[in-house]
Amino acid sequence: MNDSTALPESARWLPAGTFSDKICFVTGGGTGLGLQISRGLAALGATVVIASRNPDNHSELQEEAKRNGWKVESQTCDVREPEVVRSCVDAIIERHGRIDHLINNAAGNFVCPTERLSANAWRSVLGIVLDGTFYVSQAVGKTMIKAGGGSILNVVATYAWTGMAGVVHSASAKAGVLAMTRTLASEWSRYHIRVNAIAPGPFESKGASANLWPDDEIRENMKQNIPLKRFATTDEVAAQCLHLLAPVSDYITGECLVIDGGALLPQPFWEAGTRIKRRKPEADA
Ligand code: HXC
Ligand code: NAP
Repeated sequence: MNDSTALPESARWLPAGTFSDKICFVTGGGTGLGLQISRGLAALGATVVIASRNPDNHSELQEEAKRNGWKVESQTCDVREPEVVRSCVDAIIERHGRIDHLINNAAGNFVCPTERLSANAWRSVLGIVLDGTFYVSQAVGKTMIKAGGGSILNVVATYAWTGMAGVVHSASAKAGVLAMTRTLASEWSRYHIRVNAIAPGPFESKGASANLWPDDEIRENMKQNIPLKRFATTDEVAAQCLHLLAPVSDYITGECLVIDGGALLPQPFWEAGTRIKRRKPEADA
């Protein structure tokens, strides 16, 4: 079944069976980046459990799994609800005995000037991104401690440390998740739990394009501000996630990998200067 031609692009860089016998839990695993990560893990042999609010978002991966012989299960779960998160995790442990890899990918976001953001809107994004990541990490972390180890990968964004106009809720929440990544990496290293993050630049997903670049002009303007002049593909970002979860990364913890086409680099003040040819000294004589 898992011949290399059937592998998703993101999974082609790792040996077949890299995640055989691993139990992976991916929040928001039915859409966008989460879907691509889940595909890669499943294609490389993992049992993948995806969880999000809307079960309709789970059917694409479920159908692909049937066609490819992948082991995929799904749960309806709002990560803002600690009780619901706990019973979701309990159900996975009851069925599979442990969780080897947790990918905290679920998020909510939209652009809104800070002065117009309602308390409920702030809570909604903080609830999904910051509280949700904590509730899931704590519930899964306890089971990893019992099992003797595991790894956690959080999805943040570079505005966690730069800030970004228009997304105070998401930037504040992602900053918290980055701090949580480093804190848990330090605190849980004694239990052999690795905790890392990735910080992607913009990539197309239904949620992001609807909420963050709703028209072509905004999208094109964003691309022009990225040194590599394009968005990432979900495959490119998922490939780096798989790499950080795989045994090849067993000595990496507390790290945040930036995948942003150079967008964090300083503005190139002297770019025009680098295009001017140096005058030859004899021209002055
Ligand atoms: C202002 C808004 C708003 C908007 C919602 N609200 N959208 N306020 N501008 N565009 C307000 C509502 O009016 C309400 O406040 C409060 O937020 C909660 O809204 P609900 O619709 O009830 O929330 P909920 O159903 O919980 O949905 C959560 C959501 C939604 C975050 C609002 O957008 C969502 O589910 N998103 C998931 C997909 C997504 O966002 N993906 C993008 C990820 S990209 P009031 O006061 O009216 O009650 C990403 C990083 C990108 O995260 C980085 C790029 C570099
Ligand atoms: P997406 O497809 O909209 O993914 C968001 C996922 O989160 C959906 O599957 C959604 O499923 C789930 N979700 C939202 N609220 C939830 C809740 N309360 N409980 C459980 N699940 C919930 O967006 P994406 O662009 O792929 O984003 C994936 C990750 O990448 C996010 O962490 C995002 O912040 C990050 N990121 C994205 C970009 C970008 O440009 N796209 C850039 C940097 C970082 P349901 O609706 O079914 O709940």
